[in-house]
Amino acid sequence: MRKLIAGNWKMNGTQADIFELDRLAIAHGAGEVDVVICGPATLLSQMVRVGLNIGGQDCHTNISGANTGDISAMMIADTGARYVITGHSERRNDHNENDALISAKTKAGWDAGLHVILCIGETEAQYHKDETLDVLRAQMDHSIPDGASEENTTIAYEPIWAIGTGLTPTTKEISAVHAALRAHLVTRFGASGTAIRLVYGGSVKASNANDIFALPNVDGALVGGASLKATDFSPIILALQQSV
Ligand code: PGA
Repeated sequence: MRKLIAGNWKMNGTQADIFELDRLAIAHGAGEVDVVICGPATLLSQMVRVGLNIGGQDCHTNISGANTGDISAMMIADTGARYVITGHSERRNDHNENDALISAKTKAGWDAGLHVILCIGETEAQYHKDETLDVLRAQMDHSIPDGASEENTTIAYEPIWAIGTGLTPTTKEISAVHAALRAHLVTRFGASGTAIRLVYGGSVKASNANDIFALPNVDGALVGGASLKATDFSPIILALQQSV
């Protein structure tokens, strides 16, 4: 299994920031792991020229139509991007996206030939009530469509309370959750379930990357804040490269 590290730029980045990717492409473009940058839609066409894998951050369920302000998976693919994120908690919460919609968006991504990075994660309240695994299993059951495989899907476990907060679960907790997610994937998808990448996201930085990447069933990371600057992201990519 090739490991994957994806940067999620969220609503950040203008043309002046593309040079950050040039620096990453030179250092990590041809390495042992898949490096992906999920940029804002406005920059995708420029980002694809840099020589890294590029992705969108969301897509509509339709290919085209009367959907003001939306972007389709086909349009993302048309830029030359090859990935798209679905189900990020900021979409689930800020845009009321439910599992059924995320499943439909994931299928739309596949239909456009994109590899989907599908996010799941529990809230802080659910974590404290010890509901994490139940919540994650339900999200997986209802937001991952039938037909998921290692070719078309990566699952990102992102505890919502860890995103952008500097907090992370303990390595023991990440390990336990990823083992449970792996077992759940195998039950549902058989052999493919052993090969679908399971990445961790939420306050990954250079100081915790080595410990997280050493864990079994952690096949990479989805990185927000620390992916915006090459000087922050590069050591995290290096940590993943050194873990393989
Ligand atoms: P963070 O974000 O690395 O800034 O915590 C992760 C994400 O939202 O994907």
